[in-house]
Amino acid sequence: MFKWASLRKTEFDQDLSSPNGRIVCHFRLKNNQITYNVSRDGHPIVKESKLGFKIYGETPLEDDLKIIRVRQQKHNETIEMQWGEDRFINNNYRETAFYFSEANNKQRIFTIRFRIFDNAVAFRYEIPPQPSFRRISIEDEMTEFNLDLNSTAWKIPALQPDRYEYNYEKCSVYDLSYSVHTPLTIRTPNGYYVSIHEAALYDYGSMNLKLNSRHALKSDITPLSDGTKAHVDLPFQTPWRLVMLSDSAIELTTNRTMFALNDPPTSDFLWVKTLKFIGIWWAMYVGEWTWATGEKHGATTKHAKEYIDAAVRLGISGLLIEGWNEGWEGDWLENGRNNSFSSSTSDFDLKAVADYAKSRGVELVGHHETVGFVDNYEKQLEEAYNVYAAAGVHYIKTGYANSMMYINGRKEYHHSQVGVRHYQKTVQLAARKNICLDIHEPIKGTGIERTWPNLLSREGARGQEYEGGSLSPTHACILPYTRLLSGGMDYTSGIFDLQNNVKPVYTTLARQLAYYVVIYSGMQMAADRPIFYESKYPKLFEFIREVPTSFEKTLPLAGEIGEYYIVARKDYDSDNWYIGGVTDVEPRRIHLDFSFLDQGEYLAKIYADSEDAHYKNNPFGMEVLEQRINRTSSLVLRMAPGGGFAIQLQRL
Ligand code: NOJ
Ligand code: CA
Repeated sequence: MFKWASLRKTEFDQDLSSPNGRIVCHFRLKNNQITYNVSRDGHPIVKESKLGFKIYGETPLEDDLKIIRVRQQKHNETIEMQWGEDRFINNNYRETAFYFSEANNKQRIFTIRFRIFDNAVAFRYEIPPQPSFRRISIEDEMTEFNLDLNSTAWKIPALQPDRYEYNYEKCSVYDLSYSVHTPLTIRTPNGYYVSIHEAALYDYGSMNLKLNSRHALKSDITPLSDGTKAHVDLPFQTPWRLVMLSDSAIELTTNRTMFALNDPPTSDFLWVKTLKFIGIWWAMYVGEWTWATGEKHGATTKHAKEYIDAAVRLGISGLLIEGWNEGWEGDWLENGRNNSFSSSTSDFDLKAVADYAKSRGVELVGHHETVGFVDNYEKQLEEAYNVYAAAGVHYIKTGYANSMMYINGRKEYHHSQVGVRHYQKTVQLAARKNICLDIHEPIKGTGIERTWPNLLSREGARGQEYEGGSLSPTHACILPYTRLLSGGMDYTSGIFDLQNNVKPVYTTLARQLAYYVVIYSGMQMAADRPIFYESKYPKLFEFIREVPTSFEKTLPLAGEIGEYYIVARKDYDSDNWYIGGVTDVEPRRIHLDFSFLDQGEYLAKIYADSEDAHYKNNPFGMEVLEQRINRTSSLVLRMAPGGGFAIQLQRL
């Protein structure tokens, strides 16, 4: 069902509205300049903003522009996700495509396609094969998002050595004079919440944002080492530029438009299963074991078998093993350029470990730390995946721990077009081998998990590996409103040994459980050593064992950016609900109302901070309570400074 109109206009404007009419996007062509603006309930959110791009070696696309055709259609469907935070996603929008051509002799043609949802505006550029060329180099994309400069933003810097692994800073939009990552979440002075992001990022540099000379935020596409933004074959379409809108901060956290803008899978991914796993991992962070061989080597056959047995006792399905392959000795960051992904160290027998894991019903999570040396990795890629596939491994954690990538003999940004291509290659190769991925130092999420459900998780923000002084309690109270809008994150939750000497973890114990509900991941780690789960806190571990890795629905209950977040989620496979909450350094007493529950009785297991708990001087202070709850019940809980709580509601 679509309408189209043939035109030949050099001046044109049109209002595009959302299905419920609350969002209006005004589109205009005037004086050879294409612009749009966005309002909600009649209040301006995005002021007049320019659109366009520069093609390398070509004259700008701003002479003699005319609109030759406008095509409109409505779309309304419910998408079913195989796993994730919400099983059903509403894909309801009004679409308008504007077809442009030049009146001059070049006659270049392109399209701008808009989709207006009830909670978002999205648009992209589409460039078909041209009369005179089939391949272009993009010099710049000129997309603006012109917001009130007095708006508040939560930013992390882009194009920096630690990729996305920075602490968020609160600032005004006026301060965004250097490039920042998306999702960029913003509160406008008139009280609306906006997050600017992108969807379906393929074969193009990732979009960062930066104020231009007009003081408008402008797309700052991650450049290639040759200074261009991308080299593409035509036809080509950019990722969707996405502006999510909401009335409250918590409403933003369940905006799933990014997934709706991605395509459904083209083949069967029913073999993909979300996973919970322990790992030969945190012992390295606290200095008990090492990645490198030697007396303290973590990844030995013996340790692996012991951890497999522990996983069975704990009721956890998977085990990650890091440091099993050659290349970790000495300066591993430097040696990474020659890492082998198929030869194991002499004290580790992959086949024996894999056979043992299989006999005990445990899934191994393999590990490829590329240290960003993509040329070295890609040479071995097929073989490296075959080694795991042959051993029956269905999960791989990859890593790119370097400030830049080394691709085609050049130093490139992780988030440039060639980086994006590399990550995509691994996702597609893994899919062919029935392998799921958890990518560390990844490209940010743009919803491609909808098309490639085997991409179960990524890191892409500061995670718990930064504990020991570099993470404040505020961080996890910002993530749900920023980074987590781009999909799940492997935060490596569940550290119980909070007061170790090497990497003290500045949270309360109850908060470690809260993370499993607050920070969603399709591959969820129980990151501490098994002994802390088995002999020290078996009662608490019950929560980690039982919390799902896939949810039917997600319902944020309360929160403000950088202060606190409370969310309820219903299990994908049962009638049980889970609630998690985290707070910053402020203690908070919160009132929970259970009217969202279905009829019937639930047994609530409540894991809460004690009255005297505190993330610094009493992190272990906590209480475990059980009580019956139904939809008329209410509960008051205290979250300690740097604390939180977790609740399991079991349907009786
Ligand atoms: C950084 C990753 O985030 C971490 O999980 C991993 O253990 C190290 N790199 C080593 O690969
Ligand atoms: Ca990392």
